[in-house]
Amino acid sequence: MTTQTSPETPPRPPRRPDAAELRRQCAATIDTYGPGYFQDRPWLRQAFLDTPREHFVPDRYWTTTRQDGRFTVLDRAERPHAWLKRVYRPLSPLITQIAFGEIRPEDGPSDCGDFTSSLSCPAAVISMLHHLDPRPGGRILEIGTGSGYNTALLAHRVGAAGLCTVEIDAALAEQAESKLAHLGITPTVVTGDGEQGYAPAAPFDGILSTAAVREIPQAWLRQVRPGGVIVTPVDTPFHCDGLCRLVCDGRGNATGRMVGGLDFMKVRGQRERRPYSELGWPLWSDYQVTAGPEGQRIRTP
Ligand SMILES: C[S@@+](CC[C@H](N)C(=O)[O-])C[C@H]1O[C@@H](n2cnc3c(N)ncnc32)[C@H](O)[C@@H]1O
Repeated sequence: MTTQTSPETPPRPPRRPDAAELRRQCAATIDTYGPGYFQDRPWLRQAFLDTPREHFVPDRYWTTTRQDGRFTVLDRAERPHAWLKRVYRPLSPLITQIAFGEIRPEDGPSDCGDFTSSLSCPAAVISMLHHLDPRPGGRILEIGTGSGYNTALLAHRVGAAGLCTVEIDAALAEQAESKLAHLGITPTVVTGDGEQGYAPAAPFDGILSTAAVREIPQAWLRQVRPGGVIVTPVDTPFHCDGLCRLVCDGRGNATGRMVGGLDFMKVRGQRERRPYSELGWPLWSDYQVTAGPEGQRIRTP
């Protein structure tokens, strides 16, 4: 007996989502995070969907995943899909510089955790922009240009005319400026120490720092108009940074709150640890704890 076999069509490989689809999926996941992200900020969702994050990502970056104790590298040429998928993982930062560039992604996996530039994870970027909530046409100073991705999101909202961004690493500033220009985005990109702000373009409606501080720089307090805001990660004694949102009075003072927790590299001039008591933090013994049938309360003076 002979059996007739039909010519078999080889199974199709599963379709891989492209960048636009990954971006939509990433936005949909961030939507589930609730208040403090896209909620009440349709402009931010649109800016995220319209901005190709992958355009700002170098061909090789380190991930924060360790293998054999070393941070792994993703290479676009070797693993294009894994490279792109990671770009749109809501909680994954992409490390682009270690030890001020002494170690390069071309050198392969690294066990050195001295990260000095990165693209912060999309969820953190969105949360910071949510709390800044700049207005169209606003004058905004960004500290820590890095890849230029966050600058592009800001430019989508405020326009390039009133947008200044300061990066301390000249090579990064130059690369970011050219990546931005490639998309037709032309803010003022300054190579310099962002702790000094940028006096020639002050006063600003807001300052957004994408590097953490231990102490709010005095220049920022002087360069924001009355009612303007500073959003910055601040080092805390709690093993992660606090996202701090301050409203300025235009006379060198600002008050506000911690609005979330995240983890950031510190501005270059404040990488060294300082005693928290010198930085205005309560001491551990200042936290008062009461516990009972109604639950617990923890208060500071
Ligand atoms: C987390 S990365 C910034 C990410 C960036 N916003 C992006 O979208 O790619 C922090 C950046 O701050 C820069 N930086 C550190 N200290 C600085 C300072 N004092 N002034 C300006 N930039 C600084 C670092 O070189 C680094 O590129």
